[in-house]
Amino acid sequence: MIHLSQSPTDPAFVQNPYPFYDRLRRAGKMVWWDDYDMPVIANYEGVSMALRDRRFGREAPQGFAPDTPPHLADFYAVEANSMLELEGPRHKRLRGLVLRAFTSRRIKSLEADIAQIAHELIDTLPQDAPFDLITRFAQPLPVRIIARLLGVPETMAPELLAWSNAMVTVYQASRTKAGEIAAAKAARDFSTFLRGYIDSRRGDPRDDLISELIAAEEDGEKLTTDEMIATCILLLNAGHEATVHTLGNGVKALIEHDFGRNVLTDQRIEATLEEILRFDPPLHLFTRWVLEDTRFLDHDLKRGDRIGLLLAAANHDPEAFDGPDSFEPERRIKQNMSFGAGAHFCLGAPLARLEMRVALQVLFDRCGHLWLSAPPRYADLYHFHGLEQLMLRR
Ligand code: HEM
Repeated sequence: MIHLSQSPTDPAFVQNPYPFYDRLRRAGKMVWWDDYDMPVIANYEGVSMALRDRRFGREAPQGFAPDTPPHLADFYAVEANSMLELEGPRHKRLRGLVLRAFTSRRIKSLEADIAQIAHELIDTLPQDAPFDLITRFAQPLPVRIIARLLGVPETMAPELLAWSNAMVTVYQASRTKAGEIAAAKAARDFSTFLRGYIDSRRGDPRDDLISELIAAEEDGEKLTTDEMIATCILLLNAGHEATVHTLGNGVKALIEHDFGRNVLTDQRIEATLEEILRFDPPLHLFTRWVLEDTRFLDHDLKRGDRIGLLLAAANHDPEAFDGPDSFEPERRIKQNMSFGAGAHFCLGAPLARLEMRVALQVLFDRCGHLWLSAPPRYADLYHFHGLEQLMLRR
């Protein structure tokens, strides 16, 4: 297998990882990425096949799970009940039960809330001075929506945000022990809060997701309290940051390519949203365990090996998308890999699409034309490809 190296903390790479993805794709169907010490796939067909292939999974095969350092025990106690980290019947059961509560009616019911919060946030933006779209709009919106979805008071949004930010540092390439200790504390505090909240809802159900998770039942099965806690934490952690950065990256792409409200009309909105998702998604690298000895893309893999799937690289594969590096809201819709595929396909995709549609339409309707007032910069985190600031002027 061909080896390539590229540090994930190299500032030039973090600002623009796409040229390296081209090198990987040209080097072979599966290439060893030295810095991650594992083979990775950067072509569309390979990523799409691997995501759907049950020989690969997110949960380590028996005997291969890495030891958990004691200071991260509380963090992994939550992950142990999270559908994202499970495979097989337990994943199917958990996902099925959560889907019973996370209905299209519930998602649709959030449409007016998204518009209302978007209007409120825009009311506070200055008329004649630059503002940072990330901190003033993209960041506060999804967390308030998740609070409403769960039925948690919106005054809790700052705590939810702090817990989520602390927990997701564990996925960073450059994590520190202090960050890990803070992540475990956030997992503990968040779980304690949710346990109390779930208990209070048991005797007093309301029209919210937590009450529906309590009621959800399939084939006589119900969710345990620990599973509900892990699900609420997953919905916030998986859903929040990815939505923030899809909004930020999307507005950047629209402005840099001189598109705006003209592509956010009802007839063109769907294709535009898919192009935003395809062109510059926030989550690039997902790993899978190899669950059995196998041959894949002409390479032998052993049970317990890991492989990396580069979703954003798949979206820029010229075999799948013509002129993949240009942003074309006119492009014919074809499934991109930004929400994954197969058993773990993003459960929040309908909500994420609704948030993007409503938030972008309200933003461009209210602000008219938007201009960049400083060159955008991505945060130095490979795991979340998102802007640290997006300074705009209307
Ligand atoms: C899974 C992306 C928003 C909830 C995933 C996966 C991706 C993804 C790539 C699959 C991970 C894998 O296969 O290993 C995104 C993006 C979003 C977004 C780009 C924003 C634009 C949301 C939202 C929610 C959410 C808003 C919920 C409120 C989930 C859950 C899973 C998941 C629960 C795990 C599904 C499973 O394991 O079966 N997401 N997501 N996501 N996402 Fe999202």
